Amino acid sequence: MKFFADTSDLDAIKDLADCGMLDGVTTNPSIIAKSGKEFIPLIQEICKICDGPVSAEVASTDFATMMKEGEKLAGIAENIAVKVPLTEAGLKVCKNLSDNGTMVNVTLCFSPLQALLAAKAGATFISPFVGRLDDIGQTGMDLIAEILTIYDNYPEFYTEVLVASVRHPQHIRESALMGADVVTCPPAVIKKLYKHPLTDNGLAAFVEDWKKTGQSIL
Ligand code: G3P
Repeated sequence: MKFFADTSDLDAIKDLADCGMLDGVTTNPSIIAKSGKEFIPLIQEICKICDGPVSAEVASTDFATMMKEGEKLAGIAENIAVKVPLTEAGLKVCKNLSDNGTMVNVTLCFSPLQALLAAKAGATFISPFVGRLDDIGQTGMDLIAEILTIYDNYPEFYTEVLVASVRHPQHIRESALMGADVVTCPPAVIKKLYKHPLTDNGLAAFVEDWKKTGQSIL
């Protein structure tokens, strides 16, 4: 399973890269707005840290402008994945960019049939937003299960399922059990995966018992 960092925080991205937990980065207009930084230079900086796919999202909604924005974003670096919304115009942009060899991440996916269209349009990644479905009382991971089943039925599809809007470790656990290709998470959620009280207790006991030996390895 690939871990993408769902953030534009350069320190957090570097921290994950240093731990071998960074396979890519995703951003969106809200994440960029929250950073308070200039979009293109920030994406350039992220691409210097992350060798894997870096998703940079178009800002417009009409085909012609999204195409121009997408081509500009794709030109930033080889590992840019242009992010487009799951709309008719967005899928048309997806088809055009992917036909020209550009990675495309189709985002704001909330149904299995939307994901089917994205695969047919040549998306590199599909981003179903599980947390936002949970937020309205649905079960976001059911969407992942259905998309994986549909994609498995058609070997000609190569679109990777990129679980997005991840809120907690259970989303990651269920994604891994289902065989999703990627999860994109706030770095804080990834860091929660290290923690277990029995690990902490066990390590404390080892340290205490080692002290009693009076020995040193070095
Ligand atoms: O990558 C999509 C993700 O950023 C959306 O997450 O928490 O805004 O639903 P959220």
